[in-house]
Amino acid sequence: MNKKELIYEGKAKWLFETDEPNILWVTYKNQATAGNGVKKEEILGKGKLNNQITSLIFDHLEQKGIKSHFIKSLSDTEQLIQKADMFALEVVVRNVAAGSFSKRLGVKEGTELDFPVLEFYLKEDELNDPIINEDHIKVLQLAAEEEIEQIQQQALKINQALIELFKRINIRLVDFKLEFGKTADNKIVLADEISPDTCRLWDLDNNDRLDKDVFRKDLGDIIPLYQEVLDRLMQLDKETMHNV
Ligand code: TMP
Repeated sequence: MNKKELIYEGKAKWLFETDEPNILWVTYKNQATAGNGVKKEEILGKGKLNNQITSLIFDHLEQKGIKSHFIKSLSDTEQLIQKADMFALEVVVRNVAAGSFSKRLGVKEGTELDFPVLEFYLKEDELNDPIINEDHIKVLQLAAEEEIEQIQQQALKINQALIELFKRINIRLVDFKLEFGKTADNKIVLADEISPDTCRLWDLDNNDRLDKDVFRKDLGDIIPLYQEVLDRLMQLDKETMHNV
């Protein structure tokens, strides 16, 4: 498989075409951004860690019967993925109050929510990714009703699988953001990444932050924290393989 033209540059990744029309080549960047790109820094090693963490998580989800665009990891910072027509949506699932939820609704950070709360945001940098509801999605023709239902169901299923996975490595899954796309065969699949950039992950013993909030709030170096998440996932992967 050969890497061809660059077709998309996001904040955290480059996407290239390959000689296969439905397969793309992703390279993870070291760039970290917050506040819709207002805060921006190069952080050596971040791309490698997010690629490795995302690859392990997508593999785990596949074993749980959840399809994603992920095909395989190619190198420390590169993956092959299925091409998908992306919904212009960010889907956030929350188990514990934090971040914009706490701020908007005045709920104390750390409050356990009675059930997983699902939110949609319009993926549009110029509008600062506003929160939207299902009527907005339908009227803007971002997704059809059945597609919204499928996305909601998949997001909640992913939440359950991730809560269990992170619990096994002593991490509380506070909230996270997902993106979905439609592949050439018209299937809705999980896309983008699942990493400490896109999740809030708190250590179960002491609530230590193991995610990008540490960068967003200028609380220190994120690399050792992301490395800790990767090490715990790899240790679990090794133990699970031994048990097979
Ligand atoms: P929020 O509390 O800032 O709305 O974030 C909710 C979750 O979504 C949190 O885990 C961080 C993640 N997220 C992203 O991955 N990308 C984004 O652009 C935003 C706003 C949040």
